[in-house]
Amino acid sequence: MMRTVLHLVRALEVRPVLSPVAGISLRNFDGPQDIDGWLDIRRRAFCDEGLPIRDWTAQDFAMEMMSKPWWSPKHLWFAETALPDAQGARAIGAVALAMRRGERAVRDRTQAGMSERRGVPVVHWLMVVPQWRRRGVARWLLAALETACWDAGYRQVALETHAAWTAAVAFYRSMGYV
Ligand SMILES: CC(C)(COP(=O)(O)OP(=O)(O)OC[C@H]1O[C@@H](n2cnc3c(N)ncnc32)[C@H](O)[C@@H]1OP(=O)(O)O)[C@@H](O)C(=O)NCCC(=O)NCCS
Repeated sequence: MMRTVLHLVRALEVRPVLSPVAGISLRNFDGPQDIDGWLDIRRRAFCDEGLPIRDWTAQDFAMEMMSKPWWSPKHLWFAETALPDAQGARAIGAVALAMRRGERAVRDRTQAGMSERRGVPVVHWLMVVPQWRRRGVARWLLAALETACWDAGYRQVALETHAAWTAAVAFYRSMGYV
């Protein structure tokens, strides 16, 4: 099994354009009641991706997300359908914005083109359940994250993914990550 980790990056040159998907809306994390929905998306999104990942509990979510210094409900987006599915779920995709500390952010607007030590924004846990793929949901989620980065003055977004996650690699490349 290919365990190569890919480090990808995109320079933002203009404010990203959001392209909404019919029948879907985006919203931010709204409290602990959203944790199960997020865990469910993670389970469904990664179960057939070649490189299996360990199932997370709500405690893992609290440790890996909510206790991190970068955490904010505004840094986690959900994509959801207007109507619930047979299990009552509406959330079908998600992405989080983490911050890698201690590196120089490139071309910071507030510093008139200078860099400063305030971390690099990182795409964290982008995922869409299989039934909703190839409809532009991830493109919209990622553009929402990139827009938030742009508006906060960041001009570069980074991420790590696995070479074995071929859909993700194709997706990120199509979004301009190199
Ligand atoms: C990667 C992932 C989030 C993409 O979600 P998605 O909603 O299907 O992506 P989009 O519909 O927005 O795709 C936008 C473009 O990306 C490219 N793309 C997306 N999936 C692709 C695939 N399987 N093969 C080739 N290109 C792909 C295409 O260019 C696509 O545009 P098109 O459909 O008009 O050709 C989804 O496949 C997923 O959840 N995978 C499992 C979880 C994962 O690996 N996450 C990343 C962890 S770092």
